[in-house]
This record gives sequence, structure tokens and C-alpha cells, in this order.
Amino acid sequence: MSFILITGANRGIGLHLCRHYLSQRQNVIALARSHSSALEALQTHYQTDQQLDQSGQFKVYQCDLNQEESIQQVAESIKQQGIELELVIHNAGVSINESFGNWTQKAFIDNYRVNAVAPALLTQALFSQFAHKAKIILFSSGVASLSEAKDVRKSALDSYAMSKVALNMLAVKLSNACDGVNTICCAINPGWVRTDMGGQDATQSPEETVISLTQTIANLSEEKNASFLSLAGEPISW
Ligand SMILES: NC(=O)c1ccc[n+]([C@@H]2O[C@H](COP(=O)([O-])OP(=O)(O)OC[C@H]3O[C@@H](n4cnc5c(N)ncnc54)[C@H](OP(=O)(O)O)[C@@H]3O)[C@@H](O)[C@H]2O)c1
Repeated sequence: MSFILITGANRGIGLHLCRHYLSQRQNVIALARSHSSALEALQTHYQTDQQLDQSGQFKVYQCDLNQEESIQQVAESIKQQGIELELVIHNAGVSINESFGNWTQKAFIDNYRVNAVAPALLTQALFSQFAHKAKIILFSSGVASLSEAKDVRKSALDSYAMSKVALNMLAVKLSNACDGVNTICCAINPGWVRTDMGGQDATQSPEETVISLTQTIANLSEEKNASFLSLAGEPISW
């Protein structure tokens, strides 16, 4: 039985992704650092449905991606159950931002730890569980494009952008590392989405974003391995 694993599943895009895949009767593993009533309601709903044998399985694990031990514990639990992963979506992220003049080591490190280091360590820890042609999706950002950054004169997203550039490199490094098991790994910019991170002025609702994202992910083929893609699956300039 294959599962889809989604990080940062208690709110925002991650929660909507869980909802979407569960509604498609897929088996889902949700990783969440914090409790949320929305995730709990989803869990209750799908556990009830399971009794009627109408849906896939839904497993929720607590995991703080700032803590290496927490990443190892959740991976160990998944391994012990012999769970196979067909899709891993590294959705969890933070956007801690300070403009030049106020930069701090803490903000840089906090962004890097969740946005770039955690997806690397979690993928490494789960490597043995990947199905043949498993997909590994890293949620990047338009601000991670080096070529486009030259035109964004007033962006205040410095440390966030740098952490997502590191994440983009991870897409390439993971593609090399996972070569033997034929995974497809890419970085996708989900666009500007109305969540806690994106704010209420963002142009896309989480619902419409998830419809496009899941189509793009479903259509990913091997030639998209190690690429940086838009929501629609078009290449973005590194
Ligand atoms: N929204 C946008 O416009 C936009 C644009 C481009 C890219 N993205 C990317 O898309 C992804 C999802 O964004 P979003 O808008 O849904 O963000 P969001 O609403 O702020 O949600 C962020 C999620 O990440 C989780 N998270 C943060 N730190 C964590 C940690 N240490 N351990 C475990 N989970 C942690 C949060 O959990 P807690 O509740 O525990 O904090 C939450 O579930 C992010 O990677 C983001 O960079 C978003």
C-alpha cells in the first residue's frame, strides 16, 4: 500500500493538500508540528469513513522539522510499519524576514533549517521507503530565481529567498542521490496564495492552488526531474 506524505499539514497549503488527496481516496501521511482543529476534524472524518471502507488511510504524526531527532523518530516509525511512499511533498516552510541593516544570524538560520535542511534530512531518512518512480516535491518560491531577483529591487524576503535558493539546489542534489531508484524530484513555486504566509492580498485561493498543483504533480514525467517549475508545471529560470 503506497502513501502520500505531506509536511506542514495542519494549516495553509499543506492542510488543503491533505483534504484534496483524501477526497481522492489516496492514503495520506500528514506531518504536523502543531495541533489544529481543522486537521483534527479531517482525521475524525476520515477515520469514520474508513470504517465504511470508503476512503484511503489517514495517518497523522507530530513532527517538529527544527529538530533532527523528531525527523528521525517519524522516519523510524514509517519504516517500522513498512510503509511505501509514492509521493513526498515538502510543504512546511517559514518566512522570517528582515531587510538589509537588520539582518540577524538567527533569522537566516531559522529559515534555512526548516526550508532547506529539514527536507534534505527527511528525504534521506525516508529514502529506503520510496516506491519505484516516487515523486519528491519541494515547495520553492518565485523569489528563489536568481535571474529574476536582479529586478526585484525592494524585496524584503532576503533570508527566505536565500533559503529557497538552497532548496532549489537540493532538488538537483536529491535527483543525483536518488538516481538508482528512478525518483522524480523537483522544486515547484506554488504561486502567491492566501494563507498565513501569503496574506489576504495574495492572488490565489488555497483551493485553486491545490487543484493546479496536484495536476502538475500528477503529470510530472522523468524529463522534469531536477527542475524548477511554476504552478502550471512550466520551467522557471534558476
Ligand atoms: N503562501 C504563499 O504565497 C507561498 C508562496 C511561495 C511559496 N510558498 C511555500 O509554500 C509552502 C506552504 O506555505 P503556506 O502559505 O501554506 O504557509 P503557512 O500557511 O505559513 O503554513 C506553514 C506550514 O509549515 C509548518 N511549519 C513551519 N515550521 C515548521 C516546523 N519547524 N516543523 C514542522 N512544520 C513547520 C507550519 O506549522 P505550524 O503551524 O506548526 O507553524 C504550517 O503547517 C511553504 O514552503 C512556503 O514557503 C508559499
